[in-house]
Amino acid sequence: MTHVMSILGTRPEAIKMAPVIKELEKYPAKIRSTVVVTAQHREMLDQVLGIFDIKPDYDLNIMSSNQTLADVTIKVLKGMEEIFSKDRPDVVLVQGDTTTVLAGALAAFYHKIKIGHVEAGLRTNNLQNPWPEEMNRRVVDSFADFYFCPTILGKQNLIKEGIPEKKIFVTGNTVIDALLWVANQSYEITNDSLKTVDFSNKKIILLTTHRRENYLSGGMKEIYEAIKEILKKHQDVEVVFPVHLNPNVRKLAHEKLDNNNPRVHLVDPLDYRDLVKLMKSSCIVLTDSGGIQEEAPSLGKPVVILRETTERPEGIEAGTAILAGTRQVNIFEIVDKLLSDKVFYGKMSNAVNPYGDGKSAWRIVDIIKRSFEELT
Ligand code: UD1
Repeated sequence: MTHVMSILGTRPEAIKMAPVIKELEKYPAKIRSTVVVTAQHREMLDQVLGIFDIKPDYDLNIMSSNQTLADVTIKVLKGMEEIFSKDRPDVVLVQGDTTTVLAGALAAFYHKIKIGHVEAGLRTNNLQNPWPEEMNRRVVDSFADFYFCPTILGKQNLIKEGIPEKKIFVTGNTVIDALLWVANQSYEITNDSLKTVDFSNKKIILLTTHRRENYLSGGMKEIYEAIKEILKKHQDVEVVFPVHLNPNVRKLAHEKLDNNNPRVHLVDPLDYRDLVKLMKSSCIVLTDSGGIQEEAPSLGKPVVILRETTERPEGIEAGTAILAGTRQVNIFEIVDKLLSDKVFYGKMSNAVNPYGDGKSAWRIVDIIKRSFEELT
């Protein structure tokens, strides 16, 4: 019996690991699947666990208000050490590039436990952007045992860094597995805060911003100014902005955008099912999120990336995403063009999805099963 322990901290990790955990649970005779939540995020993580019916075996419950990166790192390292001392897995799975991933993988490394990195090999080649995520994923990729890359580009990045090819597997991104699962459910938006959105008569822009480096650099302010300018010029547009629970982001968003404009909807973080429905009903997606950059092309929605760099150039190459940066003038120009130029919009809304086919979780679990069968 192979013991696979998945460690999750934030909402996107839960969304992207849910299909893997569900797949691991299908083989109880071969695999013991356990789940640790660090709860670097609390409410936003629990919401996703509920949707996918995942019951954690261990909950470090580390979140505190305005936690620093060091707080999170120390609490996860110590917490994982205690868990490993009483329930040692054969392999630990971490996903992505958060502080939970760095500290969870480091704890496993100290205990000589094998590490599988889901969504390995993403790079911007700029350690300051995204910060601290580029450092987190590079460090984990320097000592993992299994590298599950969403696309061939991740594999190429890892090979350049000297990772042996036999440890690298191109699996697709598990976010597409989760997205397809949710998008195929018959589900109506239930959230009261979306009831006032005029889906029938207006063009809906979905906006999300939460990146630390955008907040620290002042980019977030410029993003919100661009939104105001767009709303002024395009009276047929409504903006729906599910605001991240990070208190810094919330304060700024409400200061800059909460001006009683009935065409601006600042709402609490949405249930993943509501978010997917909302994405389907939107005409353009403006985001600094990684997961949404991957999901929106599958739904045929043009993505305007509100960042200076991206580790996901595949969407740009496919023509469904544009790297707008965080300058007001650039964001305004791109969105204005998408709203005014039908040919431009039509080209970008062609649904192509370079990120996966919905079978990534199956591939990851198959690789783990076969690797441990070979060992025993
Ligand atoms: C974290 C990750 C980022 C990921 C993002 C997804 C790091 C360094 N950053 O950023 O990579 O893209 O999550 O959302 O790991 N909070 C709540 N309730 C919640 C969640 C957060 O109140 O449910 C508050 C916390 O008190 C915390 C703040 O939001 O003080 C920021 O959370 P944190 O996990 O430190 O960073 P994020 O900006 O969310």
